[in-house]
Amino acid sequence: MITVHEEIADKKRFMKLLLLGDEQESMILRYLSRGRLFVMNDGGKAVAVCVVTDEGNGTLEIKNIAVSPESQRLGYGRKMISFIENRFSGSFRRLIVGTGDSPLTVPFYESCGFVRSGVIKNFFIDNYDHPIIEAGVQLCDMICFEKELPERYGTVSKGFTEI
Ligand SMILES: CC(C)(COP(=O)(O)OP(=O)(O)OC[C@H]1O[C@@H](n2cnc3c(N)ncnc32)[C@H](O)[C@@H]1OP(=O)(O)O)[C@@H](O)C(=O)NCCC(=O)NCCS
Repeated sequence: MITVHEEIADKKRFMKLLLLGDEQESMILRYLSRGRLFVMNDGGKAVAVCVVTDEGNGTLEIKNIAVSPESQRLGYGRKMISFIENRFSGSFRRLIVGTGDSPLTVPFYESCGFVRSGVIKNFFIDNYDHPIIEAGVQLCDMICFEKELPERYGTVSKGFTEI
């Protein structure tokens, strides 16, 4: 069974997974305490994590999303996005996320219905203490995506249970 829970007691316990989504721990620590961390389990094993923050004006930001390497491309990432949309529609109007210009992540957000909303030039150069290499290319600019959240989410089962 796939379940999702919000981790409150010990968020740093999931640092190994969080580092897949954001490879510099000091950057994760900037948002982890004010962020809400959701953990998806399948068969009792943590397969995915997501941290979201309230950015004001009805905007919720995905600061980190990661699926364990052996569980990638099995639909857990998309399910996690569905969970966040389901959980926060009604309370927030807009879901935003920023990512490197990478063939590993841009198609993921596009396939989840996000649209490009802007670019932050040199974000990965200016904010990280080492070059971030993805798919053999150094990340430089941050590509910003957004998705409108419906006022109310459908009641159709999305394949997971919140516990
Ligand atoms: C990016 C990530 C969260 C996606 O989660 P996932 O569970 O692997 O993705 P899903 O199986 O839900 O994929 C949904 C769709 O996204 C697209 N997609 C996902 N990964 C992709 C990849 N590596 N290349 C191209 N398209 C991809 C596909 O359209 C896919 O549908 P399909 O498998 O039917 O073709 C996951 O790969 C991950 O944790 N990567 C490392 C951490 C990371 O980069 N996090 C994001 C930081 S911005």
